[in-house]
Amino acid sequence: MKPKSIKVIVPATVSNVGPGFDIMGFAINTPIEEMVLRLIDKPGIKISRVTGDKNGLPLDIKKNTATVALKHMISMLNINLGIELEIRKKIISGSGLGSSAASAVAAPFALNELLGKPFSKHELMEFALLGEKIASGSIHADNVAPCLFGGFILIRGYNPTDIVQLSSPKNLYCTILHPQFEIKTSEARKLIKRNYSLKDVITQTGNAAGLVTGILKSDYKLIKRSLNDLIAEPARAKLIPGFYEIKNAAMESGAIGCSISGSGPAIFAFSTSEKDGRKIGSVMKKVSSKYFKKSNVYVSSINTDGPKVIG
Ligand code: HSE
Repeated sequence: MKPKSIKVIVPATVSNVGPGFDIMGFAINTPIEEMVLRLIDKPGIKISRVTGDKNGLPLDIKKNTATVALKHMISMLNINLGIELEIRKKIISGSGLGSSAASAVAAPFALNELLGKPFSKHELMEFALLGEKIASGSIHADNVAPCLFGGFILIRGYNPTDIVQLSSPKNLYCTILHPQFEIKTSEARKLIKRNYSLKDVITQTGNAAGLVTGILKSDYKLIKRSLNDLIAEPARAKLIPGFYEIKNAAMESGAIGCSISGSGPAIFAFSTSEKDGRKIGSVMKKVSSKYFKKSNVYVSSINTDGPKVIG
């Protein structure tokens, strides 16, 4: 008999990665989110239980990224399904760590596995993007794509979504400082300027190209020179009290780059060993304690697996 329920895990993601606004993202190993999807007799989709971050997560199936993505998937399948979701939210909503993308990826991935993989990962990505759009008000794949494929992803273009998976540098570690407050991506996107000078476009393009090359060649010095952003970071830094002080402290402790993760408030910093990553994390936390009562620190290698079935 075919199983009627499945449990999956999906990774958190860091999007933008400095100069790659809307075009770069990567997956990390912690935090990881869990979802259980069950087939039930009564047709329709419902969320039966949420544990973890109950406050930030819309339970209305028209507003939840998981259920919206599932609805699009089911309409393509053209079958009448009854589905119940249990979400174990470990990636906090509004953290800048791809929480809405994780839900939007987990649900279609889980259903696809349960049904014997009728869709390719590229097709699942399109359902997940429609789910993600509900949360952020726009289509951007820089969380969804790395969450689904793992590793570093370059989004070469949209319409159609053209993604390129980059090989991940072996010794790259990511430290995350997550101050415990929420920034809504839809609001943070409104802060981004619409027009840039030619000089800024040249600088940003050079840095984005340098970052991709640095990642492909495991050239950490090139990654460090390239991790400068003229679009999202200057516009959003004011949303994170003490951001530049925390960033400077991370760089002085040996980080090879530091910026806002997605639309924040999480801040990421790169290093080349877990030990350095932990040292950078404790310095970032210490400096940030002047501004935030509560913050979490994660140190992780790059997640190259994407979602996994665990039960
Ligand atoms: N690229 C998106 C943004 C990611 O910065 O608005 C949001 O998580």
